[in-house]
Amino acid sequence: MTTMLAPPRTDMPGDRISAREFNAIRELVYARFGINLGDHKKSLVVGRLQKVLTQRGFHTFQEYYDWLKNDSSEEGLSELANRITTNHTFFNREPAHFEYFADKLLPQLAAARRAEGRKDPRAWFVQQRDGNLRVNDEIRSGVSFRRHNLMTATFPFKHQFDAIFCRNVMICFDHRTRMELVSTFHQHTAPGGHLFIGHSETLGRDETACEYVMPAYRKRA
Ligand SMILES: C[S@@+](CC[C@H](N)C(=O)[O-])C[C@H]1O[C@@H](n2cnc3c(N)ncnc32)[C@H](O)[C@@H]1O
Repeated sequence: MTTMLAPPRTDMPGDRISAREFNAIRELVYARFGINLGDHKKSLVVGRLQKVLTQRGFHTFQEYYDWLKNDSSEEGLSELANRITTNHTFFNREPAHFEYFADKLLPQLAAARRAEGRKDPRAWFVQQRDGNLRVNDEIRSGVSFRRHNLMTATFPFKHQFDAIFCRNVMICFDHRTRMELVSTFHQHTAPGGHLFIGHSETLGRDETACEYVMPAYRKRA
């Protein structure tokens, strides 16, 4: 029996990246997403972006970079961010945060709202014909899902948040970017509000004006 081996793939678009091309992409990624790509990330960048170059018909990283710089839709930048970040996550990851949120924080917030004269809804859930429950329309209308680049200079939110979950994200950033972001979060957190970061992430006393109340950071009221 003969074993056929495929010839080694050479000269695929994006097979190689020059130091200049890597630096250009590294600077773009840092400026737009705050993500720090060290030299050791070169093969990761090549590996993860090779398919993008092929699909989009570019022959070199320089061509790809030039296109990104002129991409006013930002679709390409968003694709770049998705490719180079590790989007590892799963439902109910680090459950201690959700337990604290449900058992401590939500009851406090509900009590504060009631004290302000806000009424609880008619029912929180509506029974469906198939027996399932659906969150009621009033609550649904207050929920919005949006993509938000944390490096955006001005955060587009009108109100301060009672809780911000930003878990295992700042690990991608360098110290200065992390500190700027923590300060921005602080401005956008209501007094007594909480910031949840990943279990493996920590903020020193001199890095935040918040106090640590395991497992979150609380803005002093
Ligand atoms: C390791 S995942 C963590 C996912 C989830 N928060 C969790 O804890 O399971 C890191 C996430 O940070 C996001 N990210 C990196 N830079 C970002 C930026 N500048 N703005 C918004 N999200 C960013 C990535 O898209 C990625 O989804």
